[in-house]
This record gives sequence, structure tokens and C-alpha cells, in this order.
Amino acid sequence: MGQTLTEKILDDHLVEGELETGEEIGIEIDQVLTQDTTGTMVWLQFEAMGLDEVQTEIAAQYCDHQTYQFDFKNTDDHRFLRSAAGTYGAHFSRPGNGICHNVHRENFAAPGKTLLGSDSHTPTPGGLGELAIGAGGIDVTVAMGGAPYYIEMPEIVSVRLEGELPEWATAKDVILELLRRLSVKGGVGKILEYTGPGVETLTAPERMTITNMGTELGATTSIFPTDEQTEDYLERVGRGEEYVELQPDDDAEYDDEIVVDLSDLEPLIAQPSMPDKVVPVSEVAGESVEQVIVGSCTNGGYEDILPVAKMLEGRETSMETETIVAPGSKQASEMLAREGWVAEMMAAGVNFSEATCGACIGIGHVPASDSVSLRTFNRNFEGRSGIEDDNVYLCSPEVAAAASIAGEIVDPRDLADELGDLEDPGVELPDEYDGSKTDLISPDEAVDDELIKGPNIGDVPIRDQLGSEIEGDALLKMEDNITTDHIIPATQDILMYRSNVPKLSEFTLSRVDETFAERALEADGGFLVAGENYGQGSSREHAALCPMYLGIEGVLAQSFARIHRANLFNFGIVPLTIDEETYANIDQGDEIEVVDDVYEAVTTGQEEFTVRINDDYEVTATLDASERERDILAAGGKLAWTKEQAEES
Ligand code: F3S
Repeated sequence: MGQTLTEKILDDHLVEGELETGEEIGIEIDQVLTQDTTGTMVWLQFEAMGLDEVQTEIAAQYCDHQTYQFDFKNTDDHRFLRSAAGTYGAHFSRPGNGICHNVHRENFAAPGKTLLGSDSHTPTPGGLGELAIGAGGIDVTVAMGGAPYYIEMPEIVSVRLEGELPEWATAKDVILELLRRLSVKGGVGKILEYTGPGVETLTAPERMTITNMGTELGATTSIFPTDEQTEDYLERVGRGEEYVELQPDDDAEYDDEIVVDLSDLEPLIAQPSMPDKVVPVSEVAGESVEQVIVGSCTNGGYEDILPVAKMLEGRETSMETETIVAPGSKQASEMLAREGWVAEMMAAGVNFSEATCGACIGIGHVPASDSVSLRTFNRNFEGRSGIEDDNVYLCSPEVAAAASIAGEIVDPRDLADELGDLEDPGVELPDEYDGSKTDLISPDEAVDDELIKGPNIGDVPIRDQLGSEIEGDALLKMEDNITTDHIIPATQDILMYRSNVPKLSEFTLSRVDETFAERALEADGGFLVAGENYGQGSSREHAALCPMYLGIEGVLAQSFARIHRANLFNFGIVPLTIDEETYANIDQGDEIEVVDDVYEAVTTGQEEFTVRINDDYEVTATLDASERERDILAAGGKLAWTKEQAEES
């Protein structure tokens, strides 16, 4: 039987296991990336592991989430990250140089390679044929030390693209259509492999918009085959020699197939406050818009902003709408500036921002209360924009520019009819991506050769080995789809403590219950209870690290999001799955006791655990874990486990 493209790359990197769906496999990692909010822990953990040098072909440290240097904390972190990159042999991208995925795709992403990144949108270079997976920081630390990355072999689903996009429909609409059909849980446990004749009609940057947002489907990753479009892009970024042709075999078999006819698509929009609440733009037309932001790792490339510039050329943005353009990389800004497009957009009323995640995580450009903000981003979870009652819509740059002109949500086809001289700008790649590289410091150019730690950089907390008893109160009961933003909000005032776990922990789940952190510390042990898809969203390991610091020993949930589930193991918190009825019957404050000897049960492979509630009745909870995950849990987390492993060998 022939192989899918995913199987071919996995086969090339396989160090343990077999490519059978559901089996645990270990793969060799060629490249790692990390960013500033997850990176400080990555390097502190790397230091704690006692290694001298990164072992992967490429390791890159980006500073993109918290680039504004409000006080010393972010700046201290940036200096620490630069010193860690220099000390251990990683590339360092300075604050303001751009968003990790944009800078990575411009400089390092390559077909056939594996990439592990401590950011959930790491799958972006799947559009270039790289097998790129988002993971927790500790997984990246361990991979950076040369160890394999372990993962349960996902199902491989073919997303067959047919036809060609019509006017005003874009790559963003392809992924919004998939979100409309499959929901934010539709990709869980799956790798989406794009196939079919429609693939060749999309440029590499368009493909990367699609693979970027595969994360919103919950997919492990998404990947495109490589072809002339891939080679063309690599040549334009000056790395043509890295092209390799990668295609699935003709007789490859997939676990499932989804067909999208590109020619049926129209401009789509995700309504507040979930990326899967997708409708045609025309359905919500007429809603007035106070803010438009073009940018992010989804649509912040040169090719995303150029259409906006062309649509705004010679026009004015609406007086009622604030329009911000935040490119994904400084290279994109520089090229647009050289070509005169920045001036053109500014003349139309655009505010031009530095290349940063910024507004995507509520840092700057927070919308006004009870107003509509239209963004080209990938996420619109409630409160993520920095204000609780936000109304954030997600759309293509073209739809965003149309709203900026009209002051309200409008289908760009209707606006074009009304204005008479507005044309679909289409997709245009520059002859050469020729921005300067002064903000990307290679290991050879390293500025530092020892770690520099400021006062906001604390030690890494390590949990003791798993004990035989776990009991405590259900300290918080939560609903379905709790995100890592709920667990540890990523806003500036909170995330500036990312390297200071005791301080950051004070904000744990504060968006759900302000008293939680205090209660948890006082209780010194206890449980979290949640519905479906607990921990969806980012790869933020602080969402497990902070509950661990507060003494949380177990989470009872109907289901877990993939990366967060791994992070719970990595920080020694027992993730137990419960059914709907058990979830409904447990109340906040109930006393919970795991009846089994937990250490023994975990280490002997026991799957079903008896849990006593209020010393009154018993329910069954399931630990679905591989042998390696059980060992990690028993050791007290991945750092303790990795040290054990190193001592044994
Ligand atoms: Fe940054 Fe938002 Fe992407 S936080 S990495 S722009 S999802």
C-alpha cells in the first residue's frame, strides 16, 4: 500500500513505534522554535537539564508576544532569551522583528523537515511541506536536547481541494469553511493533508494561512504537498536549494476524506466569540465596525497586506472606523515601506504598527466597550482582545479592508458593485523577499555566552514524585471549551510575570473565579472539574504549570485538548476523563478521593480509577495514557522524568 505524505515524513524521522493510528510513536525533530512567553521556561528547563548546547539542526528563539517594553520585566526577559540563545547555540530574533511563524517561514521552514514549536500555530509551515507540530515548552526543551518527540499516531485525513477560488474569495475562506463544517473540535487527533487539483492553484503563503488555522480545528497539524508553488516561494525567499518534491503515493489510503470545491466559496466571517461561528459575510452585513486590524501570524504577510494597500489606495478609511495594520514581520514592513505602500495606507487613515502579536493577545489596540472589531487573526475567544465584553469577528484582509472603507461589515463584492472602481486585488508575491536580516542573530553572531537573569526571572518549580493518595475538593467546576486564555490570560499585565511562576499563579483561572488561586493555595491540593475540550487554545504550559504550583493534583474533564493534556502530564497533574453524567453530578466544593493507590495504578497501566465523591457514592474515571506518559506522571512531570532518564543512562 502506498504512503500518504505525512507517513513518508514520519517514516523518515521515526525512532520508535509503528505508524499505526493510535500507537505512540517517537520522531526525530529537525527544527525547534519558541517565543518569548513560552521561551523563558524552555531555557530555564534546558538549564535545569544540565545540557551544553542545542542538538537540533535549527533552534530559533523569537520575541513576538510581549515586545512592548513597558517596564523592566519584558526587557529583562528579552535579554535573558538573547543570552540563552547565545549560550546554547540558537538563532535569536529580536523584539519587533516579527511573529515567530512569519519569521520562521521566511528563514528556516523547509519541505520534509520536522519542526516542534512551543506555540500552537507552529503548524504554519505545513504549507511548505514541513511537518510542524505545536507542543508544550518542556517538550520543546527535551527535543532541543536531542530526544525524540512522542505522539500518538493521529488519523490522516485527506482534505481534497477542487476547482479554483472565485473573485474575492481567499485562502482565509477555505479554512473558515472547514471551521464552519467541522467546528473547533473537528480536527482533534487528526493530521489534515491537503490533496487534489485545487492545491496547485494556491500560492505557498495562501497555503500557510490555511495550515496556520488548522490549529483552530484542533488538528495536530496540517500539511500540503510540495510543487512549483513551493519551489517558487523558496526561490523568492532566497532558499531555492532547500526545495524537495514531496507528494503522497497515488495509492495512498487516508482515514477519511473531506472535499472542498474552491469555486463554491464566498467571503466568510467568524462571528464572536469562537472561530467556528462562521457565516457568509453577507449575512452580517450592515453591522457598524469601530475597529479593523490586519495582521497576525495568519494574515500578516506581505501578500496579505498588499491587497489591503491596493484596496485603500487613493481612498479614505471611514471616520467611524479605526484601522490598524500590524505586519507579521519587519521584513514585510520594510518591503511595503520601500515600495511606497506604507505611505499610501497611512494617507488613507491607517495606523501602522510594529510587527508583533500585540492585539492578538490583548496587548495594545484593545477595542472600545461593546464595539465591533474586525480582525484578520485566527482567534476570537471571548476576552482575548483585552476586554471582557468584546465582539471580535475574524475575516480575510479583503473583507477587513472593505469594512474599513465602508465603516460597516460589507461583502466586498457588494462594495465593489457600489463603488464601481474597486477590483479584487488578487494575490501577488514580491519578486524577492529582500528585507534586511539585522534583527535575526545567528548562533555565530551571538552577543552573549552566559545567561543573564534579571529579578523577574525565577526558578522552575518541580513537583515531587506522584504519591499514592490524591484527595481534595473540587475547587472549581467549569463548562465546556475552557481555553488556556481562561486558565492563564495572556494580557500584558499578567503575562509579564511569565518567568515568575509564584506571581503568575495568582492569576490562575481568575477569569472564571477571582478567588480561585487564593482558595487553591489555602486548600493545598484539590481538583479541577471541566466539561468537553478542556484546555483548548494555545500551547501555553503555564496553564498547567501554575495550577501545579497552586497544588492542583488532578483534573476531571469530559475531554482534553491535545497540547494541554500533554502539558498536564508534563507537570505531574493527573488528567482523568469522566462521562457526562458524572460531570453533571459533581458540584464545586464536593470532596473527591481517588480510591486506588494512585502511584501503583499509574505505573501498572490501570485505566479505570474509582473515585469517591463526598464519601457518599463512587464513580469511574479513566486514565488514557501511554506507558511513557504514565512514567512521566509517576516521576512528577517531564523535567523530573528526563533527569531520571539521564541519571539512568
Ligand atoms: Fe501571535 Fe496571535 Fe499568532 S499571539 S503567534 S499572532 S495566534
